[in-house]
Amino acid sequence: MRLVSLSLYIERVDLGPVLTLSNTEKTFGALPAVAPTSFTINQGSFVSIVGPSGCGKSTLFNMIAGLEAPSAGTVQLHGADISGRTGHVGYMLQKDLLAPWRTVLGNITMGAHLTRGVTREDEERGSSLARQYGLGEFLAHYPNALSGGMRQRVALMRTLMTDHELLLLDEPFGALDAQTRFEMQRWLLDVWQSTQRTVLFVTHDVDEAIFLSDRILVMSERPGRVVLDLTIDLPRPRRTAMLTDTAFMGAKREILSLLHHESGE
Ligand SMILES: Nc1ncnc2c1ncn2[C@@H]1O[C@H](COP(=O)(O)OP(=O)(O)O)[C@@H](O)[C@H]1O
Ligand SMILES: [Mg+2]
Repeated sequence: MRLVSLSLYIERVDLGPVLTLSNTEKTFGALPAVAPTSFTINQGSFVSIVGPSGCGKSTLFNMIAGLEAPSAGTVQLHGADISGRTGHVGYMLQKDLLAPWRTVLGNITMGAHLTRGVTREDEERGSSLARQYGLGEFLAHYPNALSGGMRQRVALMRTLMTDHELLLLDEPFGALDAQTRFEMQRWLLDVWQSTQRTVLFVTHDVDEAIFLSDRILVMSERPGRVVLDLTIDLPRPRRTAMLTDTAFMGAKREILSLLHHESGE
């Protein structure tokens, strides 16, 4: 099963669904956090989720990652039910949670450290990933010596090391200044394209969502549900000039009017 999906993946011939949510919902006690939600994410795509704070975006990710079991409905990966089961997707949490006592390489190989012990091969792969994506000079540094952008790169490399095809990134650039954020967006697109992963990305920045994505899911206020599923028809590679493109502005207007309308209810 794994081999089959891996080979399709490399050839990029199968652009079918990786992830399918079917009426997936979450209630915490009496609090409905995520209303029944259904969508499909295709292989190799970059899909953003935007929505008001507290609408259930992180809860949705926790259900996809299996950290929270849905109250009803299912989460399927390549057609297999993974509801409530961890270990099937790469998940970069909203807080980066780098271990301050481990070096950059130590953090990148954290998954192996926690499960089976770090091998020489893990270290070589980790170093090579780090070098490829701009962290080569920092392998022996500790997280507190790094800038915010660099820390997020480390956290993403750690997520990539788990080898999962689907990556969940929860507001990874939320705490960064505008210039760093901009550099990180380009960097992420480079990582996404060269590693051929499927990305689900949460952000509250509508420009960021449009710039990065093939498709945007807009969620309502809590209990969150998808109120708009918008395809972004901008060519790749994405360029700064597109930020003022008519298609870009049209998408932005549509998303913002919905977000503002929803939050005004
Ligand atoms: N483990 C939990 N127990 C109880 N309530 C929770 C839990 N996790 C999240 N919530 C609540 O669910 C709602 C959605 O939270 P969250 O998914 O973090 O929103 P978002 O990521 O969109 O800001 C919030 O009201 C939050 O307080
Ligand atoms: Mg959140």
